[in-house]
Amino acid sequence: EWTMQNYLDDVSQDIKKQVGDEDVLLLISGGVDSTVVAGILLKALPPAQVHLMYVDTGLMRKNETIEVEENLKRLGAKNLYIVNAEEKFLSALKGKEDPEEKRRIIGDLFIKIQQEEIEKRNVNASFLAQGTLYTDMIESGKGVGSKAKVIKSHHNVRSPLVEQKRRENKIIEPLSMLYKDEVRRLGRFIGISESVLERHPFPGPGLAVRILGEVTKEKCEILREADYIYINELKNRGLYNDIWQAFAVLLPVKSVGVTGDDRHYGYVLALRAVVSSDGMTADAYPFPMKDLLEISAMITNRVKSIGRVVYDVSSKPPATIEWE
Ligand code: XMP
Repeated sequence: EWTMQNYLDDVSQDIKKQVGDEDVLLLISGGVDSTVVAGILLKALPPAQVHLMYVDTGLMRKNETIEVEENLKRLGAKNLYIVNAEEKFLSALKGKEDPEEKRRIIGDLFIKIQQEEIEKRNVNASFLAQGTLYTDMIESGKGVGSKAKVIKSHHNVRSPLVEQKRRENKIIEPLSMLYKDEVRRLGRFIGISESVLERHPFPGPGLAVRILGEVTKEKCEILREADYIYINELKNRGLYNDIWQAFAVLLPVKSVGVTGDDRHYGYVLALRAVVSSDGMTADAYPFPMKDLLEISAMITNRVKSIGRVVYDVSSKPPATIEWE
């Protein structure tokens, strides 16, 4: 009989057999998949054998790092390495405007920092766990059961660590038989909070691809605040779960506005919200106008450097979901 309990028991047995008394490292993004893998590992093994590493790039959403840390501690994490790398990422991105270059810089730095931290903190894990899903393996075109499984997170694609562990056959993928909705159910079963399970997708390069042009700390803070107000309002209004992905984008232009007798120039913020089944195609969410107007007013009232809010009504294709 296929139940969550049976699945968890089976997968735990497999992990125990594979790992023995050696240690496992899991790189945490904070998303659903890596959090559920963390929960499974912490149930299957003594927590001392499980090492969790999370890199805060400074390009995360408001409160994200604290929430990730709390969630993992609640799951019983003991060896939890929260790496604050904000300054390194911001200085590497200084003056960079080209979107692909920004992505490349972030991906490379991510891998470099992971490797440095593993050494610095003396993490001696022979195994590496990953949140690869069934669909990730099918999409690889190799089929389930193939040795050449696709590695999902873009940050890890070129990682020497992942490649080495794959060669040594020391990769653990406890979600590889599950679809996304089954991962959520399993997550719910092992006590992962709804706010993690229902969270919209978030790109690896984070806010860097939502700040068009050069990324600065000031712009990160403006966008973090505006995005927080937007997402919070979607939740308050019961709209969040109707939307596949929503976020704010900070444009590299300023436009004129008035307060009293003063004309001043403020940033333009674009709001994005899409409905989709898999992110491959998407349509703009047909907001009730009242919600949009009220949310726009809240943002411009509370974030003084934003003078104007626009709503992105484009479909994918021809537009993409993200703006960079
Ligand atoms: P696009 O913008 O291509 O996005 O329509 C489709 C989905 O992919 C996410 N996305 C990324 N995820 N690294 C990621 O991990 C990236 O560089 C990246 N770019 C886009 C995007 O948020 C959407 O869910």
